[in-house]
Amino acid sequence: MNGKTVTELTDVLYPFGSAFSKTDWATLACFWHPAAESEEVANKPFGTVLLDIRVVVYRSGGKVSAALDICPHRGAQLSNGEMVDGNLQCPYHGLRYDGSGVCTRIPAQKPDAPIPSHMRLTTFDTVERFGIIWVNIMGAENQLAPLPDWSLLEENNTQSARVPTETWNVNAARHAENFNDISHLAFVHETTFGDVPYEVPDYSLEIEENTMRHYYVDGGSSMTFDRRLTRKGERRVPEVYDKVDYEYRFTFPFASSLHITDPDGRCVSIYDVIQPISVKKSRIFKHSARNYNQDQPMDDLVEFEVEVNKEDREVIEPALPVHVPLDPKEEYHIRADRWSIAYRRKLSKYGMGLDVDRVVPD
Ligand code: FES
Ligand code: FE
Repeated sequence: MNGKTVTELTDVLYPFGSAFSKTDWATLACFWHPAAESEEVANKPFGTVLLDIRVVVYRSGGKVSAALDICPHRGAQLSNGEMVDGNLQCPYHGLRYDGSGVCTRIPAQKPDAPIPSHMRLTTFDTVERFGIIWVNIMGAENQLAPLPDWSLLEENNTQSARVPTETWNVNAARHAENFNDISHLAFVHETTFGDVPYEVPDYSLEIEENTMRHYYVDGGSSMTFDRRLTRKGERRVPEVYDKVDYEYRFTFPFASSLHITDPDGRCVSIYDVIQPISVKKSRIFKHSARNYNQDQPMDDLVEFEVEVNKEDREVIEPALPVHVPLDPKEEYHIRADRWSIAYRRKLSKYGMGLDVDRVVPD
């Protein structure tokens, strides 16, 4: 972006007072993060916060753009402005910027007065995919990982629905670990999932350059595939299966998916990605999908996922320390934690935890 190196951009953009260390911030700024749902960015600019910096997302000339949400003239918040003729107009003195951030109009000057070429916004690379607008602060050329491969969501035989986004007072890595943690299910999700065995099956774990996958086969029931809450007074007698496939796919730093497949090939999937707003604030983007019951509404699944979120949130929001400790000595580990141990190790390898006096595990 703008031909600057990651170090130069970090010096310019690293936000004053951020609770991210400078190297953690610079590392995370090299990944793609969700910044908005597609529908949130229509004919008005959309303001959000990513890694403690204000970002404005807007549509111009058929493409989606993102920029620092600070007008370079006198610092006004651009997302409080409006779109005029495909240009983002600042609410303060009406300067306008096109989709590439270039200033196209200064109302206080004569219309034919030249506009200096340096008058432009600090823009960020964007990609619109899976109903989400993704932003990479450091630019695609500095990306540390591609977008997650959620192409299954786009297949014809898949029906999907968005779960309403939620903003939690939680660190993004804590949430990612929670999604991929199998041993909490029996305790946190007793109400939604029903009886889940305490003992965690011996899952396989594969670690690739930017992704991880863990997988196991276990029992399951038709309630898993119904994914609907038991109504008051309802007695449900689920059909029980011996063998259900549970496959978790993860893309660094915060994108997870879980695919549960029964012996007949029915598959229900949950996709989850986190916008790191600050060290302790995250916005959760979640989709639910299935390849069966195509003609039925997805309301039950969405309602179910909202309830699942509530259960997780109660437990992980108060967890301390706020960040995920990268020094393995800082928390106890059990065998079921192999995924999170590998996750933390990999975050260290990406360069996180280097300037906060944490030991880098090997
Ligand atoms: Fe934006 Fe002046 S601050 S136009
Ligand atoms: Fe959970």
